[in-house]
Amino acid sequence: MHTSLEAGIAYLVATALFIFGLKKLSKVRTARRGNQMAAVGMLLAIATTLLETGNLSWPGLVVGVLLGAAIGGWLSQKVEMTGMPELVAMFNGVGGGASMLVALSLFWRLYLTSPEASEGLAASEAAGMGGIWAVTVFLSILIGSITLTGSLVAMGKLSGKVSGNPILLPNRHLISIALGAGAILVGLLAGFGASGAMAATLLILLALIAGALGVLVVIPIGGADMPVVVSLLNSYSGIAASMAGFVIANPLLITAGALVGASGLILTNLMCKAMNRSLANVLIGGFGGDEVSGDARDYTNVKSASPEEAAMILESAGSVIFIPGYGMAVAQAQHVVKEMGEELERRGADVRYAIHPVAGRMPGHMNVLLAESDVPYEQLFELERINNDFKNTDVAIIVGANDVVNPSAIEDPQSPIAGMPILNAHESQTVLMIKRSLSPGYAGIRNPLFERDNTLMCFGDGKAFLQETLTELKEA
Ligand code: TAP
Repeated sequence: MHTSLEAGIAYLVATALFIFGLKKLSKVRTARRGNQMAAVGMLLAIATTLLETGNLSWPGLVVGVLLGAAIGGWLSQKVEMTGMPELVAMFNGVGGGASMLVALSLFWRLYLTSPEASEGLAASEAAGMGGIWAVTVFLSILIGSITLTGSLVAMGKLSGKVSGNPILLPNRHLISIALGAGAILVGLLAGFGASGAMAATLLILLALIAGALGVLVVIPIGGADMPVVVSLLNSYSGIAASMAGFVIANPLLITAGALVGASGLILTNLMCKAMNRSLANVLIGGFGGDEVSGDARDYTNVKSASPEEAAMILESAGSVIFIPGYGMAVAQAQHVVKEMGEELERRGADVRYAIHPVAGRMPGHMNVLLAESDVPYEQLFELERINNDFKNTDVAIIVGANDVVNPSAIEDPQSPIAGMPILNAHESQTVLMIKRSLSPGYAGIRNPLFERDNTLMCFGDGKAFLQETLTELKEA
């Protein structure tokens, strides 16, 4: 497909909007603007592609766009904040699946309509690229299909429909290597050995092998590592899209896919650092299933506080740090957290919020919730910026966080989360830990913080407990 000068310029503008949009997305303050810029870029991209590609079936396109917009609009209303990671996993999967289908369908159309395609993939000059084109068809199908099935498994694990524990098949590494080798062999045959009819069939076989590989690569990975996997699959979906861009010779798809691929990889790297794990260690799997413990029987020395007692402690606090976690999202406690923060400030306390990079269930989860309740950005502190201040803090209020404040990560080398950076809440004078029970967090492990001398467990739903404490505090 030849790109006209006008379309080329429009694609360039769209790419610039994507890049600046991404840049703005990296800061909470500018994220909304970034999202809008990228959306305008996407609109421009779609409009240009529609105008440029004159031979498309308009009724089909209109139905497709309307249907997609309706499903997207419905999902945006229906999906809870806590369900976002699953939705992102699904988006990655369908993105990868779309790239796979673009490559497959394009080759099939060529095979059915053009005689030179019957010479096999590499010999096809239909897109003017011969061998390179063949490689991009292969990669689109391979990576797209792995992304599709891998993301579906990740989505199942996140939603609890597939066990979050690692599923370790016997000889799984050998099977994966065999499938990988099989995929390369099939790709080589399709590209260089087979006639058009055979190549077209082999490409479907390639999609099936890659799909099996996607399942096999993700099932041994424990639920606690799913965010890293979802982020990596996001990167894969970008690479597959970029390859599909080569297949259909669309420069915008190439650059947009590359942007998704690169930003997904950067995010994956940041998350691995936040959990002190190497990517290889995450992908080899098996983490998260060994030590599943942490019910009431594991603790003998737990002290608890009522909302009234919590209010008495807060009454005289000069410095307070809130630590939000997944439970805050479940309880939808962000608004009362903000109100409590304001009340404490009114009483003269210094109030800050400590954000752990993997608190909650998706990157930026806590930032989004606190931004929703209008907590000032200046009061949000990332782990590195606040961790040394806990020792000088009167009260740490933990709202539904657990793994991200688990001291065994830094004190017990045998802990499954050993080495993961945590927020040093245990160093503050008093820890008020608001959660409903002594149940473990996502990693399924015991948390010695529950039993520390300076910890008071505040049992209850995050929102209800804080609401009652706030009422008591206001009356004090
Ligand atoms: P978790 O360790 O998962 O702990 C959340 C706690 O919230 C639970 O122990 C639960 O205890 C409590 N809770 C649930 N509902 C509540 C409610 N209505 N009111 C009050 N408390 C409630 O959370 P975290 O500290 O945020 O750590 C995140 C974990 O998830 C890490 O292990 C991380 O690796 C993993 N993860 C992170 C991501 C990303 S990217 N953020 C994605 C997937 C997984 P009770 O049941 O006793 O109330």
